[in-house]
Amino acid sequence: MLKRISALMLAGLTALAVAGCGSSSGGGGASAGDGTITMGFSQVGAESGWRTANTKSVQDSAKTAGITLKFSDAQQKQENQIKAIRSYIQQKVDVIAFSPVVESGWDTVLKEAKNAKIPVILTDRAVDSKDTSLYKTFLGSDFVEEGKKAGKWLVDEYKDSKDPVNIVELQGTTGSAPANDRKAGFQEEIKADPKFKIVASQTGDFTRAKGKEVMEAFLKSTPDIDVLFAHNDDMGLGAIEAIEGAGKVPGKDIKIITIDAVKDGMQALSDGKINYIVECSPLLGPQLMDLAKKVVKNETVPTRVVTEETVFNQEQAKAALPNRQY
Ligand code: AHR
Repeated sequence: MLKRISALMLAGLTALAVAGCGSSSGGGGASAGDGTITMGFSQVGAESGWRTANTKSVQDSAKTAGITLKFSDAQQKQENQIKAIRSYIQQKVDVIAFSPVVESGWDTVLKEAKNAKIPVILTDRAVDSKDTSLYKTFLGSDFVEEGKKAGKWLVDEYKDSKDPVNIVELQGTTGSAPANDRKAGFQEEIKADPKFKIVASQTGDFTRAKGKEVMEAFLKSTPDIDVLFAHNDDMGLGAIEAIEGAGKVPGKDIKIITIDAVKDGMQALSDGKINYIVECSPLLGPQLMDLAKKVVKNETVPTRVVTEETVFNQEQAKAALPNRQY
């Protein structure tokens, strides 16, 4: 008898692994049937400090809200997210939430969720599906606005100068909503004045290692860099290592603007190595759980929930750092 139970347990575990799902912070293979909500959550990966803080926020908030969370890490690969979502559909979870690594290519799997009558919530990043009935709501930052805030600071910083301003840009993951939108917002703000020139722009995939590697290449190929605009803190922090390695002073020889405001970024800002950070809050968990409870009950929710965010200069970073949660 014991042998049979173990064999059954093993089969169950194997099925979960094949389905491509990682750890689960709750029990049950599907909706618990006792009124407890089960959420299948597909995370982008663990590419940045922001992402780690976001994962913690989602996991902690699920616990607090009494929601059973099935969590999977897609390692920045769309095919892993599609597999995870299909597995959640098979398991008949009550709600699916995910942060899409790129904007395109979701219609088929989202239609499968809709046909299975499982509501979907987009969190952090958007999809470009024309059919907005494929998801209930989108909770996250306004990335265009973040890019604009970065551009506005730059325009103001150089308002009294007539000289050309050579900018290099470290973009986020190619095809992702934050990379597309931050680039667009930034360009929108600087385009009126031809002295601002983006002389090199390449993806650093939102990671510190890639940020360093690409900045090293920029420093070799592009003389006279005045400004670095990095789409997140991690790439900016990697770039600082490259700038110092090239014998230059980050924050002075090359001014640096980043996005996120995670602790390491804020430390570099208060140390004078970064000049300005636009905040992008990863603390989406509590709002996500509230929205999940509502969509499961079929209550109306806003189709877009925008995260509230601020900006930091070096003095503001010094003041905020001691209480920074992430
Ligand atoms: O989608 C949010 C972005 O993803 C953050 O700015 C970045 O750090 C993360 O990897």
